[in-house]
Amino acid sequence: WRQEKDTDQTSLESKLEALQCHFTWDLDPSKSIWLGHIYNLRGFVQYKLGFTEDAQSFFNKAAEAFSKIRNADEGPWLVVNYGNLAWLHHHLGDQAESQAYLSKVDALMNKYPSPSQDELHPEIYAEKAWTLMKFSREQKIRAADYFQRAIRMQPDMVEWNTSYVLGLVGSFRQNKKLKADVLEKMRMAKEQDPENLYLAVHYLHQCVQNGERIEEEARELARKVLKNPVSSYSGIKPLLKVYSYYVSIDEAIDLIEEALKTHPDERYLKRCAALCYKWKILYFSDSRPKPSVIDRAISLHEEVIALYPDSFLMKKIELANIYAKLNYGQAEAEQIYQELLESDLEPADKQMLYNNYAIHLHLHCRDYQRSIQYHMKVAAIPHQFSHRWNSITTLKKIRDRGRSHMCREIEEFLENLIKYTLCELTNPCFVCLLCFGGNYTRHSCILHVVS
Ligand SMILES: *[C@@H]1O[C@H](CO)[C@@H](O)[C@H](O)[C@H]1NC(C)=O
Repeated sequence: WRQEKDTDQTSLESKLEALQCHFTWDLDPSKSIWLGHIYNLRGFVQYKLGFTEDAQSFFNKAAEAFSKIRNADEGPWLVVNYGNLAWLHHHLGDQAESQAYLSKVDALMNKYPSPSQDELHPEIYAEKAWTLMKFSREQKIRAADYFQRAIRMQPDMVEWNTSYVLGLVGSFRQNKKLKADVLEKMRMAKEQDPENLYLAVHYLHQCVQNGERIEEEARELARKVLKNPVSSYSGIKPLLKVYSYYVSIDEAIDLIEEALKTHPDERYLKRCAALCYKWKILYFSDSRPKPSVIDRAISLHEEVIALYPDSFLMKKIELANIYAKLNYGQAEAEQIYQELLESDLEPADKQMLYNNYAIHLHLHCRDYQRSIQYHMKVAAIPHQFSHRWNSITTLKKIRDRGRSHMCREIEEFLENLIKYTLCELTNPCFVCLLCFGGNYTRHSCILHVVS
């Protein structure tokens, strides 16, 4: 009897492994996606956080939302949802319930087979693609492929086309000009999906980078976005960026203050406002910023630090950088940095902090030697983040310029970096030229960076 039960268990597990759902998609949620707002993803995230009851309730909400949106009680879109529920019950130890959901998945797959024999149902591809888009850069590339498959089989879904295009744009480096064909895809998607302001704002950003004048369109778009600015999909954040850089930073500030007037307690809008004030002080103030601007910037940052514990570190660094930019603020800036340097951080966070501190030492303290030392600390952490790329590039530049008395030390350091850290970088690093070129294979990336 015992053996039979074990066999049952094994076959249940192998069936679970074969499911298409969040539990099998190899997702590694990092802090940045906690806002993911489709219920299936939220359910999964809640599960990962250890809140199984919430997970269950989000999965149920997902099913409810689908039935409202699709105007039907069931359909192939529930395959993923039931898959998640099968996994959840399995993890909770309720194997019978898990088995029941597996049977439901089977029934759905029989009732709604994929139009293409050796491919998944387009609904599954689309959800998988949408989900992967929220994760790493590498997974964004896979997402584009899944969207294309879904669209090929079912071309009439406006939102799939929109998301595909947004994913495509998002997988490029920021501020990079898009190729003509991608821009054309974007234009077509915008025409098909005029209600999507998020897409419209991103399109506008591309137009302005191609030298078009956009002030009028930006203002019109702003009026629409302001009607419902609250979520991160409203387009307000990219709009503020476009405004700041291509219309005027003061108008961007007026815009976000107006949004805050109607939604004074929305933390997302406060975060956007803090961003605008930061830009104003760090990048757009030739002369001394007005005291009222400084006060507002500092108080917004302090609020945002309290409201977003997850991005505490980044916001503290930004606050330090704001202080550093002000004539009287050096001591405050240094104090914040010292507190952070003494705190206990993960390698990736350490890397970000050291990189910012190195830049701060160079820019505001003219302490070039310590700046170089901190850039080395960044580079020595074999984590694959853009800060490492920044620090290594900076060190290379200093070495090549040949004016620092630490040139030899830097040279030696970079050589050792090749010798001793190569073996740890078995995954794409996303920092070297090869990776930036879109060649996401395993390779010894440091070579490309330092050679
Ligand atoms: C989506 O894109 C495909 C391929 O580009 C196109 O054939 C289709 O008409 C588009 N669908 C919608 C609804 O815009």
